Amino acid sequence: MGDGGVRSVPRQILERMRCPQCGNAVVETESGGVVCSGGHTFGRRGAVLDFSKEAEPSGSTERTFASFGYEWNAFDGIRDEDERFAEIYFRDLDLDGLNGKVGLDAGCGKGRFTRILARYLDAEVALDGSSAVDAAAAGLDDLDNVCVVQSDLRSAPFAPESFDFISSLGVLHHLDDPFEGFKRLLTYLAPGGQILLYLYSRPPTLSVRSVAQSGATAVRKVTVRLSHPTLKALSTPIAAALGVVFVAPGRWGADRGVSWLADLPMDTYRDKPFRSLVLDTFDRLSAPVEYRYVWSDLQQWFDETGLVVDAARDETGWFVLAHRP
Ligand SMILES: C[S@@+](CC[C@H](N)C(=O)[O-])C[C@H]1O[C@@H](n2cnc3c(N)ncnc32)[C@H](O)[C@@H]1O
Ligand SMILES: [Zn+2]
Repeated sequence: MGDGGVRSVPRQILERMRCPQCGNAVVETESGGVVCSGGHTFGRRGAVLDFSKEAEPSGSTERTFASFGYEWNAFDGIRDEDERFAEIYFRDLDLDGLNGKVGLDAGCGKGRFTRILARYLDAEVALDGSSAVDAAAAGLDDLDNVCVVQSDLRSAPFAPESFDFISSLGVLHHLDDPFEGFKRLLTYLAPGGQILLYLYSRPPTLSVRSVAQSGATAVRKVTVRLSHPTLKALSTPIAAALGVVFVAPGRWGADRGVSWLADLPMDTYRDKPFRSLVLDTFDRLSAPVEYRYVWSDLQQWFDETGLVVDAARDETGWFVLAHRP
């Protein structure tokens, strides 16, 4: 803790932080914000270092931040099932290999995965453009190797090549130009550093999942226009319907070896509490922009940027682990 009871920014993170206006290094102020040698100051809101005024969000970015700011403050708190989701998210990653490294979780939401990575990393930035950072700050409050930053990931206040590890889980597909966002994110990755992405996938051929996805895309045309409290209220009955149509029969089929039922979509929810389906229903129906990918789309991202793909799997979304040579 600093003198005023405000927790200091971890040294490894302060060293890498740069003024978004002039690029100079920064130091902490007495009130817990930061200031650069050119006198540009950036304040603190609770435990959050606030760089959100730097790039005023416009158009769909503003709506995206409003949607996720609402979502993660309404569905806040780290839950037991987050550990179980993490088993899927981090399956390809050598978590012990993160020891001694400095990481960036770009688009951290309420910080459920930041928290798990922070067990292994030396220091970590939990960054999000939306007011989700307030939920993240509350959920990560006990971790003194984490610094919560509110900023657009495309103009994050860090020196180039600052991070040995970057995670961006469920984020880039919500940008207007995901590949451009990916390339910006890569500027923060050190040579030899690893990046872990989760991106929505799209089945390449006609299937139950592709039909369900088309249905959801049609429903989204209406739901992205609803007020967030209204959509939150609707998410419970919609999730209940999905549970009856997909999750419960899928679980039944899997238990009894009935393959056509076991193959139903939404299998990740079969062993998770209903509330996780409600949250993801809201998430899916609220975010104003979403892109979906087949592998050849993403392979191009990695080919064009010279990254080496270490693992890629589609498990109701692409989990891609790659490194910068
Ligand atoms: C689906 S949530 C995922 C949160 C978290 N990674 C998780 O899996 O729980 C996407 C997050 O990305 C953030 N986000 C979207 N666009 C962003 C941008 N341009 N810069 C920073 N954060 C962004 C949103 O505010 C939101 O919290
Ligand atoms: Zn400056």
